[in-house]
Amino acid sequence: MEKLNDEENNNSIDNIEKKEYEYVYDFEWNKELENEAKKIIEENLENIETDEFLEKQNKNWEKFYKFNKTNFFKDRHYIIDEFSELKEDKREKITLLDIGCGVGNSFYPLIKNLPNLYVNAFDFSKRAINMAKTHKLYNENRINIIPLDLVNDIIPFNNNDYGILMFVLSAIKPEFHEKVIQKISEKININGILYFRDYARYDMAQLRFAKRKKNKVGNNLYMRKDKTLSYFFDKEEIENLFKKFNFEVKDSKLICRVIENRKDNKKMHRLWLQIKFIKI
Ligand SMILES: C[S@@+](CC[C@H](N)C(=O)[O-])C[C@H]1O[C@@H](n2cnc3c(N)ncnc32)[C@H](O)[C@@H]1O
Repeated sequence: MEKLNDEENNNSIDNIEKKEYEYVYDFEWNKELENEAKKIIEENLENIETDEFLEKQNKNWEKFYKFNKTNFFKDRHYIIDEFSELKEDKREKITLLDIGCGVGNSFYPLIKNLPNLYVNAFDFSKRAINMAKTHKLYNENRINIIPLDLVNDIIPFNNNDYGILMFVLSAIKPEFHEKVIQKISEKININGILYFRDYARYDMAQLRFAKRKKNKVGNNLYMRKDKTLSYFFDKEEIENLFKKFNFEVKDSKLICRVIENRKDNKKMHRLWLQIKFIKI
């Protein structure tokens, strides 16, 4: 179980293993909350000086996996229900591209449940890839997994029926987002679906970074203590970016969830975006 109150680890909290004293429920986002959040963000004007670390993201993620091993992110079991198109696809063989797969927390729950699924996956952390290969469900006939940098390398996997991009784009500098989405678009078949899930603008983690005034490295872009990046997406902004590269929005939602810890009386208001894009 991840430490829910660890401010640094905003990328772990997507995936809650509920404890007795924790309550998780939806809440409604509204203009009033948005105005309050905007104000907090606007009060954090200054960027910290970090160029050196910004350019070393690969190294920072390697360190992250060296330190956390496979214990940090939890398997994303919700993905099988949320990305229901996969289980509804009864073709004999379907292929899924997992972009920035980490240690496989997204694709392993799918591999376990969908016998017709074949996975092409990559991450730029060699350590993460090696750890993913030690999973008990690893099977080289069904899982093709390599180290690769999404920003600078050519993706060698063509003609994928589906794609998943789970909390990866937020880890990449926004100036590369267009380039990266174009690359992904080229690898997904027409009518194929890409499932995107990532941090939304005004998420509690962003507000914490802003209040602290020690993490901002760009607009809506923050650097954690471990030097990895976290960008917070606006729904329309990200939808429009994908639309530029032959994707249409199939389904798009802002997930608003309260995680309440009744032991210490703390509430966290988390905001994530979950968007399914269809390749046209
Ligand atoms: C928050 S983790 C998410 C991992 C995985 N998608 C999941 O759902 O558990 C972000 C991942 O993106 C990877 N990553 C960041 N920048 C990348 C890049 N330029 N190319 C490939 N992978 C990258 C990191 O190594 C890390 O494993």
